[in-house]
Amino acid sequence: MRLLPCSWRRILRARVARKVIYQPSAVISSRSFATTTKKDTSSPLAAPPTDLASSVTAFLGTKKRLPEFNLIDKVIVVTGAARGLGLVQAQALLEAGATVYALDRLPEPSPDFHTIAKRAEKELGTSFHYRQIDVRDVPDLNKVVDAIAEKHGRLDGLVAAAGIQQETPALEYTAEDANRMYQVNCTGAFMTAQAVAKNMIKLKQSGSIAFIASMSAHVANRGLICAAYNSSKAGVLQLSRNLASEWGVHGIRVNTISPGYIVTAMVEELFKQYPERKEEWPKQNMLGRLSSPEEYRGAAVFLMSDASSFMTASDMKIDGGHSSW
Ligand SMILES: NC(=O)c1ccc[n+]([C@@H]2O[C@H](COP(=O)([O-])OP(=O)(O)OC[C@H]3O[C@@H](n4cnc5c(N)ncnc54)[C@H](O)[C@@H]3O)[C@@H](O)[C@H]2O)c1
Repeated sequence: MRLLPCSWRRILRARVARKVIYQPSAVISSRSFATTTKKDTSSPLAAPPTDLASSVTAFLGTKKRLPEFNLIDKVIVVTGAARGLGLVQAQALLEAGATVYALDRLPEPSPDFHTIAKRAEKELGTSFHYRQIDVRDVPDLNKVVDAIAEKHGRLDGLVAAAGIQQETPALEYTAEDANRMYQVNCTGAFMTAQAVAKNMIKLKQSGSIAFIASMSAHVANRGLICAAYNSSKAGVLQLSRNLASEWGVHGIRVNTISPGYIVTAMVEELFKQYPERKEEWPKQNMLGRLSSPEEYRGAAVFLMSDASSFMTASDMKIDGGHSSW
């Protein structure tokens, strides 16, 4: 077979990727998601093994790699994605083919955002956008989410990762601080989901919503005094179950992810203040270590994709066994 020049191979790949190959729901299309770097020797479109991005896309449009994880053409909103867990999960969704909108209150996302956005465009054939929004500002939230849905004529998913944490002894907690916690972590998550669901229903399409809760929704953390945070995350669990029960008839699934301790920039800062936690926390789970944001990539892709098509009102507890001890 005549070898095509690189640019032609890229164009061909993009075309093949648009082909519908798996259709458990009305909206899914196209390419399979592959995390492997192994060369596909059977495909004329196979990329050299040294080129990671190309080898990841070497299975585009084939049925070889778990097509139900495929997110190509899907439009997904991730709140709190200017940095930390939200940003890492957004990157995973992009790698699975989605167009992703990061919504966050920070005026500027972390420098990593721009690196990922460039990669999305150049290597993944998709796009990563940033919108500054405070999830407590409901009119603005609706305006931004409506505009995204209108631009693409679809809205397929939401990962609600925006959240705040505050350590204060319960006897000293002010109503103002507690209200802020519930406003961002509970009401903000609720209103974001509402804005997204309204558009999904208007567009008559199915969709998936995943809230980032916490293992702290299930247990009180030893040595971490944060009554308001923990109860706000417990509220997210119950919110998720109720939204799932109301919106299931529209084909909208609602689930939660409950992470254990994740070493994000926020937690690194905490370790500077309380160095003993760096030693103590890993001992509190069954794996004897803390998690990295990358260990939640698969959960986000799973919940946003048809791989979880029969899952709703559920919680994915990913905490190294912390809350089961
Ligand atoms: N780090 C952990 O150990 C851990 C464990 C369990 C759950 N979580 C949850 O995971 C999520 C992400 O946490 P992270 O560790 O990446 O923290 P982070 O502070 O790095 O990220 C949170 C993001 O949310 C944004 N945000 C905060 N308030 C907002 C608002 N009102 N409107 C819009 N955006 C807002 C922040 O600007 C930030 O970019 C949070 O919901 C957190 O509660 C974190």
